[in-house]
Amino acid sequence: MIEKPKDAALRERAKRVIPNGMYGHMAIGARMPQNYPQFFSRADGARLWDVDGNEYIDYICSFGPMILGYNDARVNQSAASQRERLDIANGPTEAVVLLAEQMVSMVSHADWAIFSKNGNDATTTCVMAARAYRGKSKVLVADGAYHGAQPWANRRAPGAPSTEHDAFPTYQYNDVTSLEEAVRQNAGDIGGIMVSPFRHDAGFPQEDVNADFARAARRLADENDAALILDDVRAGFRLSLDASWSRVGVQPDLSAWGKALANGEPIAATLGSAKFRDAMEHVFITGSFWYQAAPMAAARTTLTILEQENCPAYLLKIGNRLRDGMDEIARRRQVPLSQTGPVAMPAVMFEEDPKFEMGYAFCNGLLDRGVYFHPWHNMFLSMAHTEADIDKTLEAVDETLRTISI
Ligand SMILES: Cc1ncc(COP(=O)(O)O)c(C=O)c1O
Repeated sequence: MIEKPKDAALRERAKRVIPNGMYGHMAIGARMPQNYPQFFSRADGARLWDVDGNEYIDYICSFGPMILGYNDARVNQSAASQRERLDIANGPTEAVVLLAEQMVSMVSHADWAIFSKNGNDATTTCVMAARAYRGKSKVLVADGAYHGAQPWANRRAPGAPSTEHDAFPTYQYNDVTSLEEAVRQNAGDIGGIMVSPFRHDAGFPQEDVNADFARAARRLADENDAALILDDVRAGFRLSLDASWSRVGVQPDLSAWGKALANGEPIAATLGSAKFRDAMEHVFITGSFWYQAAPMAAARTTLTILEQENCPAYLLKIGNRLRDGMDEIARRRQVPLSQTGPVAMPAVMFEEDPKFEMGYAFCNGLLDRGVYFHPWHNMFLSMAHTEADIDKTLEAVDETLRTISI
């Protein structure tokens, strides 16, 4: 394994001033193999350099934001020129109207937009709008689905009141009967049904949405005069330039967006249909940085490029190249590799590897060969990944699977 002395020194210092040495799911040691770099120093296109100068073809894309690739000059230029004029002030700039118009024209169900900073702001805004609509408090969520680390969505926060999640009863994703049962048990008080574009729970094989399930969720929301809420924070723009359930012909009432919206500039969005506008108008919501104009300018440029260059089609093309290539290698080397999820957001694991021991060995081998994969989280492709990058990655996969014992 390649030594990473600068990373090791920073980790030691971090341990003294940051709980656990690092927060979040990229805490190396606690949740990721030791060989993973914790600290990075530079990024460009599909390439990422750790603090020790090791270069990687990156398949995490900052966990989603980098959809055009790191350091995109066009997006940087838009953000910088807005920032020079005005980024944050007592009120918004024209950019907020322009971006709202652009998103409303891009996303079929949307008639209005509210901008915030993080995905959890957007999912929380959806919850508030859904409740305000008919004054009903419960929002059904899929068991194990991630909608942010804020208290209502976070089931790993010791000391939270035992009632914290009473208003968020669960159902099983893609299971119509379990959704119907959750609806029956909470009938009369359902403000919303929250869904993910596909089952992208970390640590599990991914599962695409079943069209029957999507239609049932739509029907149950309508029958209960409740909102169907799509959390497109993670998948948004990679599968479709419309809301992700457009792929199965189902439109939500409310949708949450973030991550890739401005190619890394901090901004999230809540979109809603006309039916929910009045409810939203009764909710007080804001944040100190929610009018920030530079990320809005960056978002406008990002969306324009995604449309002009047909991002989902490009990601499908290179994603298939990666998936087919890895399938061929796994077959030839007789390795139980499991590739799930849409090809633009692949999850690569091994069958019968509950502790990810094979996954860790595989990913460590790839790191040493200049490829950054994740052993238990879905990954992300970007428009900066080229066919040559994919081919280089496949060479590293082949070489790694030749040398490690699985
Ligand atoms: C599906 C989904 N919803 C919400 C969030 C929360 O977004 P953020 O981390 O920007 O608050 C995430 C973040 O990973 C996510 O994947």
